[in-house]
Amino acid sequence: MDQIRIRGGKPLTGSIAIGGAKNAALPLMTAALLTDETLTLRNVPVLADITTLEHLLVQHGATITMVGAQSANERGHALALNAKRVVSTTAPYDLVRKMRASVLVLGPLLARCGEARVSLPGGCAIGTRPVDLHVKGMEKLGAKIELRQGYIEAQAPHGLRGAEIVFPMVSVGATENLLMAASLAEGETVLINAAREPEIVDLAVCLNKMGAQISGAGNERIVITGVKKLHGAEHSVVPDRIETGTYLMAAAITGGDVELLGARYDLVAAVAKSLEGAGVEAIETATGLRVRRSNGRLTGIDVMTEPFPGFPTDLQAQMMALMSTAEGASMITETIFENRFMHVPELCRMGANINVHGASAMVRGVAHLNGAPVMATDLRASVSLVLAGLAAEGETIVNRIYHLDRGYERLEEKLAACGADIERLSDE
Ligand code: EPZ
Repeated sequence: MDQIRIRGGKPLTGSIAIGGAKNAALPLMTAALLTDETLTLRNVPVLADITTLEHLLVQHGATITMVGAQSANERGHALALNAKRVVSTTAPYDLVRKMRASVLVLGPLLARCGEARVSLPGGCAIGTRPVDLHVKGMEKLGAKIELRQGYIEAQAPHGLRGAEIVFPMVSVGATENLLMAASLAEGETVLINAAREPEIVDLAVCLNKMGAQISGAGNERIVITGVKKLHGAEHSVVPDRIETGTYLMAAAITGGDVELLGARYDLVAAVAKSLEGAGVEAIETATGLRVRRSNGRLTGIDVMTEPFPGFPTDLQAQMMALMSTAEGASMITETIFENRFMHVPELCRMGANINVHGASAMVRGVAHLNGAPVMATDLRASVSLVLAGLAAEGETIVNRIYHLDRGYERLEEKLAACGADIERLSDE
């Protein structure tokens, strides 16, 4: 299996291009199942998770082709997705277990075909992650649902009907699934306590281009007036705020000075404000965001993860790596997932001083980290180890880097271009 080798201690300088958001591209791709016309998505990142979803959509009958050149500030590739005929409404276990976001085909298939059979994704490294809110929401829209042999079996032979759905907790995926389903339901749906993440707004914008009638996306109350049919459209995926935040912290942890091209401040405002408190400057430029360490060592600050616009859980591990090298203590509290501290023992092997008490981790900054062989069990935990490696003295080998390939496009190339001593070691 491939590994990444890092020899730490080099400040990052230069520029890094930020790609389209993985977590926006995935639901946008499933939206292609809502119409028999072509949905063209631009700025789609080239990532393993995107390929996994492509396989699932093709299995449902979609054709996916790469299309022409993109504009200068778009990265990744442009995909034309066409689901003229849906040949299967089953999302099988073998594909869904690889990536939980596969459950996002439930809403589109049910709304378009009147039925869907989607494997339950099961737990994963960061928590149990149930999909009960997706299921209850579809039932509110009139679907009959049974859980049988590990599958969600959903039927709505006469179509879905609009309803008021109050989410007991904020869920990005459930909001997305219901946005898509309600777009083709009869009448009005109101989502209350909806997720407000930029990826939700991006999906709603694209659905509206396809003919949907959605208002309020980005607020906790979203109103969807169902339409009979959706049509083709073209849409460019919003920049990746988690990739942006990760490189902000990479620059900060190495004491570097980097411009993140295509990054948007409004997508990472909570992160930028936290970093400012720690002694890192992130300022808007004409082409993106420039980040540099103001002076000297970073200061420890407290952070609590929250749904958007709060500090994202997907940057918690990276923030912990950063705080490991700060002066003083930092309390990091995870409120979204119950088991998202797997990076702690690995960071400790690199010399970090971290104690976990329930949902909080007390990080006492150390003067320096030491390189070590490490591995992690999820995407963001893995990248936090890369950040630690960039700052550490000596050599770090990061194992199981397929996690990184799920969510970071050309990570080692981007970092190496800014002066990091980092390379991928292939085992062929
Ligand atoms: C999305 O996952 C992201 N994935 C995650 O990114 C991200 O960490 C998460 O939102 C939170 O921001 C994609 O967008 C593809 P949720 P999602 O439903 O939609 C509980 C990454 O690293 N819950 O908002 O699955 C759930 O267990 C990934 O890129 C229920 O109880 O997250 C969690 O505690 C990892 N029942 C909380 O809600 C449900 O039916 C928030 O989950 C649904 C969720």
